[in-house]
Amino acid sequence: MKLFVYHTPELTPEDSLPDCAVVIDVLRATTTIATALDSGAEAVQAFSDIDILMEKSENWLPDKRLRAGERGGEKVAGFDLGNSPLDCVPEVVADKRLFLTTTNGTRALQRVAQAPIVITAAQVNRQAVVNYLLEKQPLTVWLVGSGWQGSYSVEDTACGGAIIELLVEQGKMSLEEIAGNDEVIGAFSLYSQWQDDLVTMFHKCSHGQRLLLLNCHEDLEYCAKTDIMDVLPIQKDPGVLVKQS
Ligand code: MLT
Repeated sequence: MKLFVYHTPELTPEDSLPDCAVVIDVLRATTTIATALDSGAEAVQAFSDIDILMEKSENWLPDKRLRAGERGGEKVAGFDLGNSPLDCVPEVVADKRLFLTTTNGTRALQRVAQAPIVITAAQVNRQAVVNYLLEKQPLTVWLVGSGWQGSYSVEDTACGGAIIELLVEQGKMSLEEIAGNDEVIGAFSLYSQWQDDLVTMFHKCSHGQRLLLLNCHEDLEYCAKTDIMDVLPIQKDPGVLVKQS
């Protein structure tokens, strides 16, 4: 297995795809996706465009759908939910499809949608992602951070580092064996520095600051929780993520 870390979807090579793409948007899209599926949502269907989301969700039974998402971190007007993972409790999402649009996470998913395997990762489901990679042993794996509008987001690369750390430890592989690019080593070092205090990192980083202005303190605390749910979101059809059974 060779791992490649890309800080943003824009940095991924345009002329190739990996055997497995791991999309990461810790604050907050991939944390929300993992939580919704863990709480019994039927699926999460991701859209970058609000008009297309409205059109596709219109064909779904109203009591089986939730329109969710944000722009600039705030709930889209008229939607059922924003992008807070804390709203994704079983009483709200069980058996429903979340039609989700977010600023960056859904764009990252679109970039790799044609890869043979697409999964999503966050701190909350890191161990489930590592279990899957160790079991399936894909030859090439991209860990793709969603970033913010084309620029780097430190928390996504740190989560890539969190995945690498467990792969090295549990897969009994050396860093140099699995590193496909130097970003892998950078991500590993970044996570080593912050692993015991991710909440502080989230308070310092630009998207964390943006969310704090919107009073999302509890979201930051929650998104920093590590290995708390055994759920692997996996793409079933382009843009549609389900819980791997
Ligand atoms: C995104 O996709 O940009 C984020 O999930 C935004 C957010 O925190 O809601």
